[in-house]
Amino acid sequence: MNEHHDLAALIRADTPLLAIDTHEELEVIASFQRALAQSLRPLYAWSITTGLKRLDMEESAPKPMSSGEVLDAIRDMRQKAVFLLLDYTPFLRYVVTLRQLREIAIRQGVAAHTVALVGANLELPKELEALAVRFSLSLPNEAELDKIVREEALNYSREHSGRRVQIHAQALKAVVRNLKGLAGSDARRIARRIIATDGMITDADLPAVAKAKFELLNKAGVLSFEYEPIAFHDVAGLRRLKRWIEQRRAVFMGEQTTVPLDPPKGILLLGVQGTGKSLAAKAVAGGFQVPLLRLDMASIYNKYHGETEKNLRESLVNAEVMAPCVLWIDEIEKAFATSDSDGGTSQRILGYFLTWMAERKSKIFLVATANAIDKLPPELLRKGRFDEIFFVDLPAADVRTELFRLHLAKRNLKPEEFDLEALSEVSAGFSGAEIEQGVVSALYAAHGEGARLDQRHLIEELRHTRPLSVVMAEKVAQLRAWAAERTVPAD
Ligand SMILES: Nc1ncnc2c1ncn2[C@@H]1O[C@H](COP(=O)(O)OP(=O)(O)O)[C@@H](O)[C@H]1O
Ligand SMILES: [Mg+2]
Repeated sequence: MNEHHDLAALIRADTPLLAIDTHEELEVIASFQRALAQSLRPLYAWSITTGLKRLDMEESAPKPMSSGEVLDAIRDMRQKAVFLLLDYTPFLRYVVTLRQLREIAIRQGVAAHTVALVGANLELPKELEALAVRFSLSLPNEAELDKIVREEALNYSREHSGRRVQIHAQALKAVVRNLKGLAGSDARRIARRIIATDGMITDADLPAVAKAKFELLNKAGVLSFEYEPIAFHDVAGLRRLKRWIEQRRAVFMGEQTTVPLDPPKGILLLGVQGTGKSLAAKAVAGGFQVPLLRLDMASIYNKYHGETEKNLRESLVNAEVMAPCVLWIDEIEKAFATSDSDGGTSQRILGYFLTWMAERKSKIFLVATANAIDKLPPELLRKGRFDEIFFVDLPAADVRTELFRLHLAKRNLKPEEFDLEALSEVSAGFSGAEIEQGVVSALYAAHGEGARLDQRHLIEELRHTRPLSVVMAEKVAQLRAWAAERTVPAD
């Protein structure tokens, strides 16, 4: 859709009052100028600092005018015209102003003007909202964004004595895709920044683009952007889950297939604590090669009273603008634990969330993790909500071997100097987190002796640990029994 046509149509229809919520004032003005290019209607803009200025005639001097005087001027103008009132929101508090605006809008003895209120966070009083048509500028499409980035590359050359910007075609495509959802001026600013760092546009710029975009969007601070990239080879076991993701990567990224395949939408990772669910959630983003956003439900609830639903709604909209991305909700059972004491908020939030899950069209892959099932609302588990529910069990013997190899190597130790099989045997019933903890404790023990870590320290530490699976044997057994019938093993 082309916003200029829309805007022109709205003006042609003599729409009395437009509300344009944006901080892109210059773009709004340019849009009106284009929309009115073929029209005889004069275009005026008013702001508290410059007063009223005619925009469609060169060399027209602004007339200083107060917020009240401008409404008088509009009322007295005989010729039908368009008026942009910039940053007018604060003045809408005055009873007289409101009354004057209403009179203009309902045309009480006034020509059929169009008045547009333009500003960021434009909140209208109820009586005006009913009269106003909300209008938003359409955001630049991929072709326009591509042009913006190329223009910035040219600007860079010009400012650097003709040095050409190296543009990797694939990277440019990805940058453009990442800029989608931003206003032109924001996209331009980001493009300028990534070119300025090294005079190139390469894949290395992608994280910076995603980060900058995220910071522009996430004003409420409920989502967080997880920067730490995790690869699947940092995660031991979970082989079936990894394969599942790998098989779906191309379709998720929008690759055409001969047979139409539904893009993957989300998974739930359920399992014993410390088995690498959170780690795997991060690795899924790495596996799909998209940004990872974490939705912190606790902070959604914690914000100001009554804002909970708004916080969730805004976060999900922001996630959609960041798409393709992975949206991660850790320990989802805590997010939606329904209690009677919160006036039904959590129930409403759950309802809103389920609807969003069912109806969303954007490329957001949802990864939820859960440590327990007793607090999980059954609606969330119903067929079709998640593509798959994976059960992450305690690691089997071969996965424990892998865990020792990973965590020893991570601490600059040589795994081949250890008897990994023996370690695996001693650590039966341990979670990945407990194995890691065992390695860390053994390192301390060795350090205390002033010795190098060896097999003996590790075995000693492991023998002294009572893993959760023993301490909470009953709970683990329950979870397994439940999972056996309803889930797919992750490994
Ligand atoms: N399968 C695994 N592979 C590698 N490391 C693991 C694995 N499971 C657990 N760990 C280690 O334990 C830490 C905690 O695991 P985490 O992902 O938080 O478990 P969960 O979310 O299931 O409770 C991880 O950051 C990682 O260092
Ligand atoms: Mg976790």
